[in-house]
Amino acid sequence: MTKKAELHYDGKVYELPIITGAENEKAIDISKLRGQSGLVTLDKGFKNTGSCESAITFLNGEEGILRYRGYSIEDLAEKATFLEVAFLLIYGELPTAEELDNFKEDVSKHTLVHEDVRSILDGFPSKSHPMGVLSSLVSSLTAFYPKSLDPNRSAEEVNGTIIRFIAKLPTLAAWSFKNRMRQPVIYPDNSLDYCENFIRMMFSLPTVNYEINPVVAAALNKLLILHADHEQNCSAATVRIVGSSHASLYASVSAGIAALWGPLHGGANQAVIEMLEEIKADGGDVDKYVAKAKDKSDPFRLMGFGHRVYKNFDPRATIIKKAADDVLSELGIEDPVLDIAMELEKVALEDEYFKARGLYPNVDFYSGIIYRALGIPTDMFTVMFALGRLPGWIAQWKEMRENNEPIGRPRQVYTGATQRKYVAIDKR
Ligand code: CMC
Repeated sequence: MTKKAELHYDGKVYELPIITGAENEKAIDISKLRGQSGLVTLDKGFKNTGSCESAITFLNGEEGILRYRGYSIEDLAEKATFLEVAFLLIYGELPTAEELDNFKEDVSKHTLVHEDVRSILDGFPSKSHPMGVLSSLVSSLTAFYPKSLDPNRSAEEVNGTIIRFIAKLPTLAAWSFKNRMRQPVIYPDNSLDYCENFIRMMFSLPTVNYEINPVVAAALNKLLILHADHEQNCSAATVRIVGSSHASLYASVSAGIAALWGPLHGGANQAVIEMLEEIKADGGDVDKYVAKAKDKSDPFRLMGFGHRVYKNFDPRATIIKKAADDVLSELGIEDPVLDIAMELEKVALEDEYFKARGLYPNVDFYSGIIYRALGIPTDMFTVMFALGRLPGWIAQWKEMRENNEPIGRPRQVYTGATQRKYVAIDKR
Protein backbone atom coordinates (compact mmCIF):
# COMPACT_ATOMS: atom_id res chain seq x y z
CA MET A 1 0.00 0.00 0.00
CA THR A 2 1.41 3.42 -0.90
CA LYS A 3 2.00 5.58 2.12
CA LYS A 4 0.32 8.96 2.41
CA ALA A 5 0.66 11.94 4.70
CA GLU A 6 -2.43 13.81 5.81
CA LEU A 7 -2.81 17.55 6.03
CA HIS A 8 -5.69 18.79 8.17
CA TYR A 9 -6.72 22.31 7.29
CA ASP A 10 -9.93 24.26 7.64
CA GLY A 11 -12.02 21.22 8.49
CA LYS A 12 -10.78 19.19 5.53
CA VAL A 13 -8.18 16.40 5.19
CA TYR A 14 -5.81 16.35 2.22
CA GLU A 15 -3.89 13.21 1.38
CA LEU A 16 -0.36 13.76 0.14
CA PRO A 17 1.60 10.89 -1.45
CA ILE A 18 4.94 9.88 0.12
CA ILE A 19 7.79 9.37 -2.33
CA THR A 20 10.59 7.01 -1.25
CA GLY A 21 14.10 7.40 -2.67
CA ALA A 22 16.61 4.65 -3.50
CA GLU A 23 18.30 5.11 -0.12
CA ASN A 24 14.93 5.08 1.67
CA GLU A 25 14.70 8.82 2.18
CA LYS A 26 11.09 10.03 2.27
CA ALA A 27 9.46 13.08 0.74
CA ILE A 28 5.92 14.44 0.80
CA ASP A 29 4.72 15.16 -2.73
CA ILE A 30 2.93 18.51 -2.54
CA SER A 31 2.73 19.14 -6.30
CA LYS A 32 -1.10 18.94 -6.35
CA LEU A 33 -1.65 20.68 -3.01
CA ARG A 34 -2.51 24.12 -4.35
CA GLY A 35 -5.06 22.78 -6.82
CA GLN A 36 -6.75 20.82 -4.06
CA SER A 37 -6.58 23.23 -1.13
CA GLY A 38 -5.49 26.65 -2.39
CA LEU A 39 -2.40 26.38 -0.16
CA VAL A 40 1.21 26.78 -1.22
CA THR A 41 4.20 25.85 0.93
CA LEU A 42 6.73 28.43 2.10
CA ASP A 43 10.37 27.37 2.45
CA LYS A 44 12.85 30.23 2.11
CA GLY A 45 16.17 29.12 0.67
CA PHE A 46 14.58 25.71 -0.12
CA LYS A 47 15.93 24.39 3.18
CA ASN A 48 13.42 21.53 3.17
CA THR A 49 12.26 21.31 -0.42
CA GLY A 50 13.19 18.69 -2.99
CA SER A 51 13.11 20.31 -6.44
CA CYS A 52 13.52 17.10 -8.45
CA GLU A 53 14.10 13.37 -8.38
CA SER A 54 17.70 12.68 -9.33
CA ALA A 55 19.83 9.57 -9.88
CA ILE A 56 23.21 11.36 -9.99
CA THR A 57 24.52 12.02 -6.48
CA PHE A 58 23.53 10.68 -3.09
CA LEU A 59 24.36 12.70 0.00
CA ASN A 60 23.57 11.91 3.62
CA GLY A 61 24.51 14.96 5.64
CA GLU A 62 23.97 13.36 9.04
CA GLU A 63 26.35 10.48 8.32
CA GLY A 64 28.77 12.37 6.05
CA ILE A 65 28.13 10.14 3.00
CA LEU A 66 28.71 11.33 -0.56
CA ARG A 67 28.39 9.03 -3.58
CA TYR A 68 28.42 9.72 -7.31
CA ARG A 69 26.12 7.22 -9.08
CA GLY A 70 26.56 4.86 -6.11
CA TYR A 71 30.40 5.05 -5.91
CA SER A 72 31.85 6.52 -2.70
CA ILE A 73 33.73 9.79 -2.99
CA GLU A 74 36.59 8.26 -1.00
CA ASP A 75 37.08 5.50 -3.60
CA LEU A 76 36.78 7.81 -6.58
CA ALA A 77 39.14 10.46 -5.17
CA GLU A 78 41.72 7.79 -4.36
CA LYS A 79 41.55 5.67 -7.53
CA ALA A 80 39.84 7.37 -10.48
CA THR A 81 40.79 10.01 -13.02
CA PHE A 82 38.73 13.16 -13.43
CA LEU A 83 37.62 12.26 -16.96
CA GLU A 84 36.48 8.83 -15.74
CA VAL A 85 34.38 10.55 -13.07
CA ALA A 86 33.06 13.05 -15.63
CA PHE A 87 31.95 10.13 -17.83
CA LEU A 88 30.33 8.43 -14.82
CA LEU A 89 28.36 11.53 -13.83
CA ILE A 90 27.24 12.44 -17.33
CA TYR A 91 26.44 8.99 -18.76
CA GLY A 92 25.52 7.13 -15.56
CA GLU A 93 28.11 4.32 -15.58
CA LEU A 94 31.87 4.09 -15.28
CA PRO A 95 33.43 3.77 -18.75
CA THR A 96 35.04 0.56 -20.02
CA ALA A 97 38.71 0.95 -21.06
CA GLU A 98 37.59 1.40 -24.68
CA GLU A 99 34.88 3.93 -23.81
CA LEU A 100 37.36 5.91 -21.74
CA ASP A 101 39.91 5.94 -24.58
CA ASN A 102 37.25 7.18 -27.00
CA PHE A 103 36.03 9.81 -24.54
CA LYS A 104 39.57 11.10 -23.95
CA GLU A 105 40.20 11.22 -27.69
CA ASP A 106 36.94 13.05 -28.35
CA VAL A 107 37.72 15.57 -25.63
CA SER A 108 41.29 16.11 -26.81
CA LYS A 109 40.04 16.92 -30.34
CA HIS A 110 38.05 19.93 -29.10
CA THR A 111 40.35 21.73 -26.66
CA LEU A 112 41.07 24.65 -28.98
CA VAL A 113 38.75 27.65 -28.82
CA HIS A 114 37.90 29.95 -31.71
CA GLU A 115 40.62 32.53 -32.30
CA ASP A 116 38.05 35.32 -31.87
CA VAL A 117 37.74 34.37 -28.18
CA ARG A 118 41.08 36.12 -27.78
CA SER A 119 39.54 39.42 -28.92
CA ILE A 120 36.76 39.03 -26.35
CA LEU A 121 39.36 38.26 -23.70
CA ASP A 122 41.44 41.28 -24.69
CA GLY A 123 38.42 43.48 -23.99
CA PHE A 124 38.46 42.64 -20.29
CA PRO A 125 40.53 44.88 -18.01
CA SER A 126 43.38 42.96 -16.35
CA LYS A 127 41.77 43.56 -12.94
CA SER A 128 38.67 41.59 -13.98
CA HIS A 129 37.85 38.78 -11.60
CA PRO A 130 38.54 35.52 -13.48
CA MET A 131 35.09 34.15 -12.48
CA GLY A 132 33.36 37.01 -14.30
CA VAL A 133 35.59 36.43 -17.31
CA LEU A 134 34.91 32.69 -17.25
CA SER A 135 31.17 33.10 -17.01
CA SER A 136 31.21 35.54 -19.95
CA LEU A 137 33.47 33.35 -22.09
CA VAL A 138 31.24 30.33 -21.45
CA SER A 139 28.23 32.38 -22.49
CA SER A 140 30.11 33.49 -25.61
CA LEU A 141 30.34 29.84 -26.74
CA THR A 142 26.69 30.18 -27.82
CA ALA A 143 27.89 32.66 -30.46
CA PHE A 144 30.52 30.28 -31.84
CA TYR A 145 28.19 27.25 -31.75
CA PRO A 146 24.73 28.70 -32.58
CA LYS A 147 23.23 25.22 -33.05
CA SER A 148 23.86 24.60 -29.34
CA LEU A 149 21.19 27.23 -28.62
CA ASP A 150 18.50 24.62 -29.27
CA PRO A 151 18.63 21.94 -26.57
CA ASN A 152 15.96 19.94 -28.42
CA ARG A 153 18.31 18.85 -31.21
CA SER A 154 19.31 15.18 -31.59
CA ALA A 155 21.02 13.37 -28.71
CA GLU A 156 24.15 13.16 -30.86
CA GLU A 157 24.26 16.93 -31.37
CA VAL A 158 23.64 17.61 -27.67
CA ASN A 159 26.47 15.21 -26.91
CA GLY A 160 28.73 17.18 -29.25
CA THR A 161 27.95 20.30 -27.20
CA ILE A 162 28.81 18.40 -24.01
CA ILE A 163 32.15 17.07 -25.33
CA ARG A 164 33.12 20.52 -26.62
CA PHE A 165 32.33 22.00 -23.23
CA ILE A 166 34.45 19.51 -21.24
CA ALA A 167 37.27 20.06 -23.73
CA LYS A 168 37.19 23.85 -23.84
CA LEU A 169 36.60 24.83 -20.22
CA PRO A 170 40.26 24.23 -19.17
CA THR A 171 41.36 26.45 -22.07
CA LEU A 172 38.89 29.20 -21.10
CA ALA A 173 39.80 28.91 -17.40
CA ALA A 174 43.55 29.08 -18.07
CA TRP A 175 43.03 32.00 -20.46
CA SER A 176 41.03 33.93 -17.85
CA PHE A 177 44.11 33.56 -15.63
CA LYS A 178 46.44 34.70 -18.42
CA ASN A 179 44.24 37.77 -18.92
CA ARG A 180 44.57 38.60 -15.24
CA MET A 181 48.36 38.24 -15.46
CA ARG A 182 48.48 40.14 -18.78
CA GLN A 183 50.49 37.26 -20.22
CA PRO A 184 50.06 35.78 -23.69
CA VAL A 185 47.71 32.82 -23.78
CA ILE A 186 49.10 29.31 -24.17
CA TYR A 187 47.37 26.98 -26.63
CA PRO A 188 46.33 23.47 -25.55
CA ASP A 189 48.65 20.51 -26.06
CA ASN A 190 46.52 17.48 -26.91
CA SER A 191 49.32 15.00 -26.23
CA LEU A 192 48.93 15.75 -22.51
CA ASP A 193 46.20 14.45 -20.23
CA TYR A 194 43.38 16.69 -18.97
CA CYS A 195 45.06 17.97 -15.80
CA GLU A 196 48.56 18.24 -17.31
CA ASN A 197 47.23 20.21 -20.26
CA PHE A 198 45.46 22.64 -17.95
CA ILE A 199 48.55 23.11 -15.74
CA ARG A 200 50.69 23.78 -18.80
CA MET A 201 48.23 26.38 -20.16
CA MET A 202 48.25 28.08 -16.75
CA PHE A 203 51.96 28.22 -16.04
CA SER A 204 53.88 28.02 -19.31
CA LEU A 205 55.04 31.11 -21.12
CA PRO A 206 55.94 31.32 -24.80
CA THR A 207 59.55 31.62 -23.64
CA VAL A 208 59.50 29.09 -20.79
CA ASN A 209 58.03 25.63 -21.02
CA TYR A 210 56.71 24.81 -17.54
CA GLU A 211 57.77 21.37 -16.43
CA ILE A 212 54.73 19.55 -15.08
CA ASN A 213 55.25 18.19 -11.60
CA PRO A 214 53.35 14.87 -11.23
CA VAL A 215 52.53 15.75 -7.60
CA VAL A 216 50.76 18.89 -8.80
CA ALA A 217 48.87 16.99 -11.54
CA ALA A 218 47.76 14.26 -9.08
CA ALA A 219 46.59 16.84 -6.52
CA LEU A 220 44.62 18.68 -9.18
CA ASN A 221 43.01 15.42 -10.34
CA LYS A 222 41.85 14.72 -6.78
CA LEU A 223 40.52 18.24 -6.19
CA LEU A 224 38.54 18.20 -9.43
CA ILE A 225 36.95 14.85 -8.52
CA LEU A 226 36.02 16.10 -5.05
CA HIS A 227 34.22 19.07 -6.58
CA ALA A 228 32.61 17.24 -9.50
CA ASP A 229 29.03 17.17 -8.18
CA HIS A 230 27.10 17.86 -5.02
CA GLU A 231 23.42 17.30 -5.84
CA GLN A 232 21.00 20.26 -5.60
CA ASN A 233 23.34 23.02 -4.34
CA CYS A 234 22.90 26.67 -5.30
CA SER A 235 24.73 26.47 -8.65
CA ALA A 236 23.34 23.06 -9.72
CA ALA A 237 19.83 24.24 -8.87
CA THR A 238 20.55 27.40 -10.90
CA VAL A 239 21.72 25.37 -13.90
CA ARG A 240 18.57 23.22 -13.73
CA ILE A 241 16.21 26.15 -13.33
CA VAL A 242 17.80 28.17 -16.15
CA GLY A 243 17.84 25.08 -18.37
CA SER A 244 14.20 24.36 -17.53
CA SER A 245 13.20 27.32 -19.73
CA HIS A 246 14.96 25.43 -22.58
CA ALA A 247 17.96 27.77 -22.42
CA SER A 248 21.11 26.22 -23.89
CA LEU A 249 23.67 24.23 -21.92
CA TYR A 250 26.30 26.98 -22.24
CA ALA A 251 23.85 29.68 -21.08
CA SER A 252 22.65 27.52 -18.17
CA VAL A 253 26.18 26.76 -16.97
CA SER A 254 27.24 30.38 -17.39
CA ALA A 255 24.50 31.20 -14.87
CA GLY A 256 25.74 28.33 -12.67
CA ILE A 257 29.24 29.83 -12.67
CA ALA A 258 27.77 33.15 -11.48
CA ALA A 259 25.92 31.32 -8.67
CA LEU A 260 29.10 29.51 -7.65
CA TRP A 261 31.03 32.77 -7.44
CA GLY A 262 29.37 34.00 -4.23
CA PRO A 263 31.32 33.63 -0.97
CA LEU A 264 28.60 31.51 0.66
CA HIS A 265 29.02 28.92 -2.12
CA GLY A 266 32.18 28.23 -4.17
CA GLY A 267 33.61 31.69 -3.55
CA ALA A 268 34.25 30.54 0.03
CA ASN A 269 37.59 29.02 -1.03
CA GLN A 270 38.92 32.49 -1.89
CA ALA A 271 37.30 33.98 1.22
CA VAL A 272 38.93 31.36 3.48
CA ILE A 273 42.48 32.24 2.45
CA GLU A 274 41.70 35.96 2.70
CA MET A 275 40.34 35.35 6.21
CA LEU A 276 43.37 33.28 7.26
CA GLU A 277 45.69 35.96 5.88
CA GLU A 278 43.77 38.60 7.81
CA ILE A 279 44.08 36.60 11.04
CA LYS A 280 47.80 36.16 10.42
CA ALA A 281 48.32 39.88 9.72
CA ASP A 282 46.35 40.66 12.88
CA GLY A 283 48.82 38.71 15.05
CA GLY A 284 47.28 35.22 14.67
CA ASP A 285 44.73 35.64 17.48
CA VAL A 286 42.37 32.80 16.56
CA ASP A 287 40.17 33.24 19.66
CA LYS A 288 39.38 36.80 18.63
CA TYR A 289 37.98 35.63 15.28
CA VAL A 290 36.03 32.77 16.82
CA ALA A 291 34.45 35.33 19.17
CA LYS A 292 33.66 37.61 16.21
CA ALA A 293 31.97 34.71 14.37
CA LYS A 294 29.77 34.04 17.41
CA ASP A 295 28.83 37.69 17.90
CA LYS A 296 25.43 38.21 16.25
CA SER A 297 26.02 41.95 15.93
CA ASP A 298 29.13 41.26 13.82
CA PRO A 299 28.52 40.16 10.21
CA PHE A 300 31.78 38.15 10.25
CA ARG A 301 31.41 34.39 9.68
CA LEU A 302 34.10 31.74 9.80
CA MET A 303 34.53 31.11 6.10
CA GLY A 304 34.92 27.44 5.20
CA PHE A 305 32.75 26.50 8.17
CA GLY A 306 29.22 25.18 8.11
CA HIS A 307 27.14 23.57 5.43
CA ARG A 308 23.48 23.49 4.52
CA VAL A 309 23.44 19.70 4.40
CA TYR A 310 26.42 18.33 6.35
CA LYS A 311 25.84 18.61 10.08
CA ASN A 312 28.56 16.25 11.40
CA PHE A 313 31.38 16.44 8.92
CA ASP A 314 31.96 17.06 5.23
CA PRO A 315 33.62 13.91 3.81
CA ARG A 316 35.33 16.02 1.15
CA ALA A 317 36.97 18.14 3.85
CA THR A 318 38.45 15.03 5.49
CA ILE A 319 40.04 13.96 2.18
CA ILE A 320 41.23 17.49 1.37
CA LYS A 321 42.81 18.05 4.77
CA LYS A 322 44.96 14.96 4.31
CA ALA A 323 45.74 15.91 0.70
CA ALA A 324 46.84 19.40 1.86
CA ASP A 325 49.27 17.82 4.34
CA ASP A 326 50.63 15.44 1.66
CA VAL A 327 50.97 18.08 -1.06
CA LEU A 328 52.75 20.56 1.20
CA SER A 329 55.21 17.96 2.44
CA GLU A 330 55.80 16.49 -1.05
CA LEU A 331 56.45 19.95 -2.48
CA GLY A 332 58.49 20.95 0.57
CA ILE A 333 56.31 24.01 1.24
CA GLU A 334 55.63 25.46 4.67
CA ASP A 335 52.55 27.64 4.68
CA PRO A 336 52.02 29.57 7.93
CA VAL A 337 48.29 29.87 7.24
CA LEU A 338 48.01 26.07 7.46
CA ASP A 339 48.92 26.30 11.17
CA ILE A 340 46.32 29.04 11.65
CA ALA A 341 43.72 26.93 9.83
CA MET A 342 44.42 23.93 12.05
CA GLU A 343 44.27 25.99 15.22
CA LEU A 344 41.05 27.64 14.10
CA GLU A 345 39.52 24.27 13.37
CA LYS A 346 40.57 22.94 16.80
CA VAL A 347 39.19 25.93 18.71
CA ALA A 348 35.92 26.03 16.76
CA LEU A 349 35.29 22.29 17.03
CA GLU A 350 35.55 22.49 20.83
CA ASP A 351 33.32 25.55 21.07
CA GLU A 352 29.67 25.12 22.17
CA TYR A 353 28.38 27.62 19.58
CA PHE A 354 29.80 25.60 16.67
CA LYS A 355 28.94 22.24 18.22
CA ALA A 356 25.32 23.20 18.88
CA ARG A 357 24.83 24.36 15.28
CA GLY A 358 26.65 21.45 13.65
CA LEU A 359 29.28 23.75 12.10
CA TYR A 360 32.33 21.89 10.76
CA PRO A 361 35.03 22.67 8.20
CA ASN A 362 33.63 22.21 4.69
CA VAL A 363 35.32 21.36 1.39
CA ASP A 364 36.57 24.92 0.98
CA PHE A 365 38.40 25.18 4.30
CA TYR A 366 41.59 23.43 3.17
CA SER A 367 41.27 23.47 -0.64
CA GLY A 368 42.74 26.99 -0.92
CA ILE A 369 45.85 25.88 0.94
CA ILE A 370 46.46 23.22 -1.72
CA TYR A 371 45.73 25.63 -4.59
CA ARG A 372 48.23 28.07 -3.12
CA ALA A 373 50.86 25.34 -2.84
CA LEU A 374 50.23 24.53 -6.52
CA GLY A 375 51.00 28.17 -7.40
CA ILE A 376 47.41 29.20 -8.16
CA PRO A 377 46.54 32.78 -7.14
CA THR A 378 43.67 33.38 -4.71
CA ASP A 379 41.15 34.86 -7.13
CA MET A 380 41.52 31.80 -9.38
CA PHE A 381 40.40 29.38 -6.64
CA THR A 382 36.71 29.52 -7.51
CA VAL A 383 37.58 29.02 -11.19
CA MET A 384 39.25 25.76 -10.11
CA PHE A 385 36.02 24.79 -8.36
CA ALA A 386 34.07 25.57 -11.56
CA LEU A 387 36.42 23.41 -13.62
CA GLY A 388 35.77 20.51 -11.27
CA ARG A 389 32.01 21.12 -11.07
CA LEU A 390 31.42 21.17 -14.86
CA PRO A 391 30.58 17.43 -15.23
CA GLY A 392 28.09 17.78 -12.36
CA TRP A 393 26.39 20.78 -13.95
CA ILE A 394 26.23 18.97 -17.30
CA ALA A 395 24.81 15.82 -15.68
CA GLN A 396 22.18 17.87 -13.81
CA TRP A 397 21.18 19.76 -16.96
CA LYS A 398 21.06 16.57 -19.06
CA GLU A 399 18.98 14.72 -16.46
CA MET A 400 16.55 17.63 -16.19
CA ARG A 401 16.13 17.65 -20.00
CA GLU A 402 15.81 13.86 -20.30
CA ASN A 403 13.19 13.79 -17.52
CA ASN A 404 11.33 16.49 -19.41
CA GLU A 405 11.03 18.56 -16.26
CA PRO A 406 8.61 21.50 -16.31
CA ILE A 407 9.84 25.07 -16.15
CA GLY A 408 11.05 26.01 -12.67
CA ARG A 409 8.71 28.61 -11.30
CA PRO A 410 8.35 28.92 -7.51
CA ARG A 411 5.34 30.46 -5.79
CA GLN A 412 5.52 33.25 -3.23
CA VAL A 413 3.54 34.71 -0.36
CA TYR A 414 2.84 38.31 -1.33
CA THR A 415 3.47 40.86 1.44
CA GLY A 416 3.22 44.16 -0.48
CA ALA A 417 0.51 46.80 -0.70
CA THR A 418 -3.03 45.69 -1.51
CA GLN A 419 -4.86 47.34 -4.42
CA ARG A 420 -4.74 51.13 -4.45
CA LYS A 421 -5.70 53.82 -6.93
CA TYR A 422 -3.21 55.60 -9.13
CA VAL A 423 -3.44 59.36 -8.66
CA ALA A 424 -1.50 61.38 -11.21
CA ILE A 425 1.05 63.78 -9.75
CA ASP A 426 0.80 67.40 -10.68
CA LYS A 427 3.40 67.55 -13.55
CA ARG A 428 4.38 71.19 -13.64
N1 CMC B 1 30.29 31.11 11.08
C1 CMC B 1 29.51 31.46 12.14
N2 CMC B 1 28.23 31.11 12.30
C2 CMC B 1 27.68 30.37 11.31
C3 CMC B 1 28.41 29.96 10.19
C4 CMC B 1 29.77 30.36 10.08
N3 CMC B 1 30.50 30.00 9.02
N4 CMC B 1 27.61 29.24 9.38
C5 CMC B 1 26.41 29.18 9.98
N5 CMC B 1 26.45 29.87 11.15
C6 CMC B 1 25.35 30.00 12.13
C7 CMC B 1 24.32 30.98 11.66
O1 CMC B 1 24.58 32.28 12.13
C8 CMC B 1 23.05 30.39 12.27
O2 CMC B 1 23.07 30.70 13.65
P1 CMC B 1 21.65 30.94 14.43
O3 CMC B 1 20.92 29.63 14.34
O4 CMC B 1 22.05 31.32 15.81
O5 CMC B 1 20.95 32.04 13.69
C9 CMC B 1 23.26 28.88 12.16
O6 CMC B 1 24.70 28.71 12.18
C10 CMC B 1 22.70 28.24 10.90
O7 CMC B 1 23.23 28.97 9.79
P2 CMC B 1 22.44 29.28 8.47
O8 CMC B 1 23.07 30.44 7.79
O9 CMC B 1 20.96 29.32 8.75
O10 CMC B 1 22.72 27.94 7.65
P3 CMC B 1 22.57 27.75 6.11
O11 CMC B 1 22.33 26.31 5.88
O12 CMC B 1 21.54 28.71 5.56
O13 CMC B 1 23.98 28.22 5.52
C11 CMC B 1 26.24 28.17 4.80
C12 CMC B 1 25.00 27.34 5.17
C13 CMC B 1 27.28 27.26 4.15
C14 CMC B 1 25.85 29.24 3.77
C15 CMC B 1 26.79 28.83 6.08
O14 CMC B 1 27.20 27.84 7.00
C16 CMC B 1 27.96 29.79 5.80
O15 CMC B 1 27.72 30.96 5.51
N6 CMC B 1 29.25 29.30 5.86
C17 CMC B 1 30.37 30.11 5.50
C18 CMC B 1 30.54 30.14 3.99
C19 CMC B 1 31.08 28.83 3.44
O16 CMC B 1 32.06 28.29 3.93
N7 CMC B 1 30.47 28.37 2.34
C20 CMC B 1 30.93 27.16 1.63
C21 CMC B 1 29.95 26.04 1.69
S1 CMC B 1 30.69 24.49 1.10
C22 CMC B 1 31.03 24.78 -0.57
C23 CMC B 1 29.83 24.70 -1.42
O17 CMC B 1 29.14 25.71 -1.58
O18 CMC B 1 29.53 23.61 -1.93
